[in-house]
Amino acid sequence: MGVITKSPRGKLSFSIVVALIFSFTFIILLYTERINLLSSTTVFNTKSCAKRGYSKSTKNSIQDERNATEENRLKSILDDRFIFEAGECNTARGKWVYNQSFEPLYTDLSCPYLDRQVSCVKNGKPDSDYRRWEWQLDGCVLPRFDAKLALEKIRGKRVMFVGDSLQRGQWQSFVCLVEFLIPKDQKSMRRGRVHSVFTIKDHNATIEFYWAPYLIDSNTDVQIIGDPKKRILRVDSIEKHAKHWIGVDVLVYNTYVWWMTGTKIKSLWGSFANGEDGYEELDASVSYRIALKTWANWIDSNIDQNKTRVFFTTMSPTHQRSADWNNKGGMKCYNETKPIMKKGHWGTGSDKRIMSVVRSVIGKMKVPVTVVNITQLSEYRVDAHSSVYTEMLGRLLTDEQKADPMKFADCIHWCLPGVPDTWNQIFLASL
Ligand SMILES: *[C@@H]1O[C@H](CO)[C@@H](O)[C@H](O)[C@H]1NC(C)=O
Ligand SMILES: *[C@@H]1O[C@H](CO)[C@@H](O)[C@H](O)[C@H]1NC(C)=O
Ligand SMILES: *[C@@H]1O[C@H](CO)[C@@H](O)[C@H](O)[C@H]1NC(C)=O
Ligand SMILES: *[C@@H]1O[C@H](CO)[C@@H](O)[C@H](O)[C@H]1NC(C)=O
Ligand SMILES: *[C@@H]1O[C@H](CO)[C@@H](O)[C@H](O)[C@H]1NC(C)=O
Ligand SMILES: *[C@@H]1O[C@H](CO)[C@@H](O)[C@H](O)[C@H]1NC(C)=O
Repeated sequence: MGVITKSPRGKLSFSIVVALIFSFTFIILLYTERINLLSSTTVFNTKSCAKRGYSKSTKNSIQDERNATEENRLKSILDDRFIFEAGECNTARGKWVYNQSFEPLYTDLSCPYLDRQVSCVKNGKPDSDYRRWEWQLDGCVLPRFDAKLALEKIRGKRVMFVGDSLQRGQWQSFVCLVEFLIPKDQKSMRRGRVHSVFTIKDHNATIEFYWAPYLIDSNTDVQIIGDPKKRILRVDSIEKHAKHWIGVDVLVYNTYVWWMTGTKIKSLWGSFANGEDGYEELDASVSYRIALKTWANWIDSNIDQNKTRVFFTTMSPTHQRSADWNNKGGMKCYNETKPIMKKGHWGTGSDKRIMSVVRSVIGKMKVPVTVVNITQLSEYRVDAHSSVYTEMLGRLLTDEQKADPMKFADCIHWCLPGVPDTWNQIFLASL
């Protein structure tokens, strides 16, 4: 449909419809937000080339293939793909493969740390097939999430996810993907409004979440302001949050959906004697660029790349408009039970201008940032949002609310277990 074009300044290509969708997206986001509450990839380790799946000398391969069984033949085809390595493998190129016998490492009943907002099956979602799709890359083998390996990699480290509620989902997914291996007396969770910490005592490790929906400072970070027009973003101010990121070993950032209100962003920078009146109203992608630059400058001047790894999770797509995937008569993501199969599908819920800002800002940084590019793979997963199997203002949706998906279905957040587990699969493979 070409509503969003690649042009970084394609303001005009945004139709009013899309703006309305974004405003609506935003309202949902707000109401589901509980106040208490990762290309331009640069590789950190200087590895020159990806490893082959299995080492095998080419001399024998012809002979091998001649007498190989069909199974072995298939294996040798696999051998030709690279074991995943960030920067070498394109996480956007692949397909979702349904595997009836695939079971996630946890469920929303087994993991005690999941918010009700994302516990879809527990909340009555009739379909649980959405948990059995695996993301297979075209050119590489993406290993399954290995919980033991993850615990080894984070031993003695502080890992912190920083960002919005989508990032909180990724954090909870990561915690649940490893917590079942840890004895009860060796783990603890402390939830805070802004900062939450999951501690693994015998590993001397923490998996933390820090709430900063824009990364930079704003008047709506903690005391959330309902009306997007009353929000002011201090686009050059980050210290208030950033001081809590010092000393962390692995930092995983995101910021996207809070910018998509469909309205201009009141952006404030410098110091103004007249308080908050000195803002400039800017297009989201312009304001986003200034803010992300503020973040990038902070990282470049405060992070020692020999000690700390930095990741950035790209936009998590929203699915508010069933016309995007040609489901006439569809009600947003409600009742969707299969991923979109059209290669390269890209809907109105992912803003290419924002993606190009991320690519260009991160591309110019001194400290290498590993991009966890989850946008394309998540674009396909219209079936995996919490939909009406969620809560609002701390209460499960009532039957009447469930009967009105156009108004109440949450097509922003993801069920857990689910798509964010795949984000963590990529994150772990890149760590
Ligand atoms: C992420 O992947 C998409 C392809 O789906 C690409 O267009 C985009 O530039 C990538 N983003 C970054 C920040 O590298
Ligand atoms: C397969 O080829 C190898 C030589 O690469 C040979 O040693 C082996 O006996 C062959 N196996 C069969 C089942 O023919
Ligand atoms: C499906 O999952 C099962 C169980 O984990 C695994 O043994 C099998 O290899 C998977 N099949 C495919 C085609 O990936
Ligand atoms: C535990 O980790 C912290 C950093 O997260 C480090 O300062 C401390 O020395 C570690 N303690 C042990 C006993 O390894
Ligand atoms: C990081 O490590 C490299 C090689 O060990 C060293 O040359 C460089 O000075 C270190 N950088 C910092 C900021 O410590
Ligand atoms: C949801 O999907 C099921 C099965 O495809 C269908 O029977 C049902 O009518 C749908 N519900 C609504 C409200 O569209």
